[in-house]
Amino acid sequence: MQAKISALKQNAFNDIASAQDSNALEDCRIKWLGKKSETSQLLKGLKDVAPDQRPAVGALINDLKNEIESTINARRTEMEFEVISRQLEGEAIDVTLPGKRQGLGRVHPLTQTLDAVINIFHSLGFSVAEGPEIESEYYNFDALNIPTYHPARDMQDTFFLENGKLLRTHTSPVQIRVMENRTPPVRVIAPGRVYRNEAINARSYCLFHQVEGFYVDQKVTFAELKGVLGFFAQELFGKGTKIKLRPSYFPFTEPSLECDISCFLCHGSGCRVCKYSGWLEILGAGMIHPEVLKSAHYDPEKYQGYAFGMGIERITMLLYGINDIRLFFENDIRFLSQF
Ligand code: DAH
Repeated sequence: MQAKISALKQNAFNDIASAQDSNALEDCRIKWLGKKSETSQLLKGLKDVAPDQRPAVGALINDLKNEIESTINARRTEMEFEVISRQLEGEAIDVTLPGKRQGLGRVHPLTQTLDAVINIFHSLGFSVAEGPEIESEYYNFDALNIPTYHPARDMQDTFFLENGKLLRTHTSPVQIRVMENRTPPVRVIAPGRVYRNEAINARSYCLFHQVEGFYVDQKVTFAELKGVLGFFAQELFGKGTKIKLRPSYFPFTEPSLECDISCFLCHGSGCRVCKYSGWLEILGAGMIHPEVLKSAHYDPEKYQGYAFGMGIERITMLLYGINDIRLFFENDIRFLSQF
């Protein structure tokens, strides 16, 4: 009997060990512990065993049942573990692999120049003001003493909108908007986008950025304008930078001037960037025209002021030797990542 039991046990164990999934394991359970199983047959045969041996044989069969059952349970736990560890293996992170680099963004070169310009004027006591990009003809032209026949009003230059408004062609209208709301002294710079209906090429684009600056108070002099422009040039382009003021014409200033700086690349000896002149034009300026002060209801007998305006793209192109304005607007990462 004992030999029979241990043979049965061995067979059952082999069977259980080779079960590959829970269905196969369930088949094992039915086969080795079910009603029709050999184990149950053994129990049924117990009545034929001699009464004095019956308890011992019974105990053996019970042990057999228990052992098979616990082996099946152990195998089941093992299978579950295998499933989970296979799953975990699939999900595992190899912490020894090199990480993915997160590219850090950079400040756009135009924003860098804008920030630098704003900081310089901030240090001189100027505060920042903004105006709308969709402007009226009044603020963009009339209030700035730009007459109807002025070529800047031409359809070729200005984007007129269907509602009678337009996209501002310069930041100068902010002068009027600020003056309307404040009493002198006002010392303001106005950075922002401006739009012009020009052919797009390496030198011009349909939109660009300007910084407008102006100061109005009693007894503001041309000499102060000169001093401020000189200081600005040295701060932005380097200590040795000289300025040259050339007479010019703008409807909103009188007198008007254009400001050149000594070429910071060749220091005046002549190079490709300054076209061998030694000078680079960087901005327009002048004393605010009395008519412009009147538009803002300032008494020109009492107040004077100066104003200036510069193109941020142009200055950035000079600073970095960029030869195509379109690069600023294409947002090609190969270009932007150089700044
Ligand atoms: N508004 C002018 C332009 O867009 C630039 C300018 C020139 C602004 C002279 C000024 C100035 O304030 O005084 O070309």
